[in-house]
Amino acid sequence: MHNDISKILFSEQDLANRVREMGENITADYAAMAGPEGIVVISILRGGAIFTCDLVRAIDMPLEMDFMAVSSYGNGVKSSGVVRILKDLNTDIRGRHVIIAEDIIDSGLTLKYLMQNLQSRGPASMTVAALMKKNTENQADIECRYVGFECPDEFIVGYGLDYAERYRNLPYIGVLKPEIYQ
Ligand code: IMP
Ligand code: MG
Repeated sequence: MHNDISKILFSEQDLANRVREMGENITADYAAMAGPEGIVVISILRGGAIFTCDLVRAIDMPLEMDFMAVSSYGNGVKSSGVVRILKDLNTDIRGRHVIIAEDIIDSGLTLKYLMQNLQSRGPASMTVAALMKKNTENQADIECRYVGFECPDEFIVGYGLDYAERYRNLPYIGVLKPEIYQ
């Protein structure tokens, strides 16, 4: 597994530090506004799961977690732009303050679709916490208030991100050697 990685971009410690800061920022921004009802954190499966689990434990206020699964990639390495909802929310988000927790914004097409879909359900507010934002040309314009790291336009894995369902359990984020997917 580790031999398939050409370079470590973010170490376990980098990730822990940055996710803790993101949680503190969210707490500071939302604690008063959201009141006792708190916020709803929507984790986008499966890539966002590990990030979300660390993020919610760094947020010090009432919150609910829910999960959505969408598919946009199949087993390839580029977004198709065709998004399917494989698992929908159990929570009614009408009137709630919603934060979507996503692993990485690449083309932005997945989130663009998802945000339009969720907006139509009438949340009080909605924004995105993305662990990473890729430096991609023609990225869709997404209202993303919290970004953990900017990252280069390479195919990366670890800490939830996969290639063909593997490498999600790497504790760090690294660049996958191109010969693995070419
Ligand atoms: P987008 O629709 O192009 O923004 O793609 C978003 C989704 O593609 C993310 O939620 C990731 O799950 C996946 N993705 C994008 N770039 C990478 C990558 O470099 N490695 C692994 N998954 C990625
Ligand atoms: Mg994903």
